[in-house]
Amino acid sequence: MKFDIKDEKLAPAGKKRILWADRDMPVLAAIRERFAKEKPFAGLRMSCCLHVTAETANLVRALQAGGAEVALVASNPLSTQDDIAASLVIDYKIPVFAIKGEDNKTYYSHIESGIAHSPHITMDDGADLVSEILKKHPELHKQILASMEETTTGVIRLKAMEKDNILKFPVIAVNDAQTKHMFDNRYGTGQSTIDGIIRASGVLLAGKTFVVAGYGWCGRGLADRARGLGANVIVTEINYIKAIEAAMDGFRVMPMLDAVKEAEIICTVTGNTNVLDAHHFKVMKDSCYICNSGHFDVEINLDALQKASSKVEKNIRNFVNAYYMNDGRVIYLLGEGRLINLAAAEGHPASVMDMSFATQALSCEYVVKNKGKLQNKVYLLPEALETEIAATKLASMGFNIDTLTEEQHKYLTSWEVGT
Ligand code: ADE
Repeated sequence: MKFDIKDEKLAPAGKKRILWADRDMPVLAAIRERFAKEKPFAGLRMSCCLHVTAETANLVRALQAGGAEVALVASNPLSTQDDIAASLVIDYKIPVFAIKGEDNKTYYSHIESGIAHSPHITMDDGADLVSEILKKHPELHKQILASMEETTTGVIRLKAMEKDNILKFPVIAVNDAQTKHMFDNRYGTGQSTIDGIIRASGVLLAGKTFVVAGYGWCGRGLADRARGLGANVIVTEINYIKAIEAAMDGFRVMPMLDAVKEAEIICTVTGNTNVLDAHHFKVMKDSCYICNSGHFDVEINLDALQKASSKVEKNIRNFVNAYYMNDGRVIYLLGEGRLINLAAAEGHPASVMDMSFATQALSCEYVVKNKGKLQNKVYLLPEALETEIAATKLASMGFNIDTLTEEQHKYLTSWEVGT
């Protein structure tokens, strides 16, 4: 079995963390047990391009239990947990190609290894795997049943491929399932981003001016969590509706150029490029921490930051680089501008990834069951499967809900009764 990981000796530590995460992933565990009996993926190869974390390990265990031959490659150069990669290789015999801190060349060579696995199903976090297949191995599309996509950014890229008529197999937009983005993006990103910022910088949030760029699901979660820790939160937006929502949620809203003058911490979560740029660095408050929790490291213009500074001191603390400006100010870049929650912390907690990865697992089963029936489009997962995941999760949390009476059901599905 080929693989490329940092150190096989890290496997025992990784296994402990995989099993620890498993305790908090009851929905996925139930799916794994069912998959082990039903083997829905017998004879299928899967290549997954995901953050190599303890939670992902439990997803690939479920796919493997279902009979798939799974290969796992990193979906970001800085998010790999090397002990998890080692345990997957040594304890679970899953080929992994991922090393924390790998350079871009190695990152893409790892994606090539995922492609060399000759998958029937692919799974992406950011659409890099599909993009490389379509660009460099177009012939492979004939054997690919479908692909799953985990992120907002990836879904945007895949919809652009669909629009340009270059998408050659169906895609399930796992991110767009309610069981994914309403919880993972909001509560997962909200908590893990704060976790990453604190682990990297050690900063006290209480009383700090904290700028959240972007008020999508991730931005909402982050703003809420920062406020919860006592920060004075400012939201920047380009969308009027979302800006009103942020304002009515009680946050100050203003353009980034104004926000940077008072910000002490800035985190970008927009999915767009150059959200922090040269003109912002020029007027940014001294000693500001800047970081990103969006999928790609394009949100902070790192070239412009480099050009604006007379000296750069790397790793003045783990995951902190200091950029000194000519006028004496310093800007602290956390996590090299890569997603801070996975670079400096451990990503979202297992309990929320339980729902995201249950959605992934059931999406895989859905495309196998519907082989040949789907077009080369980006699809939502059917609502019934979301409901199944939500019901299992709620029960695992110890909560129950009411059910409609027949009379209520009739009322909701009819129009006759009015004033
Ligand atoms: N994305 C965000 N958090 C994650 C985690 N813990 N595992 C995998 N992907 C993630």
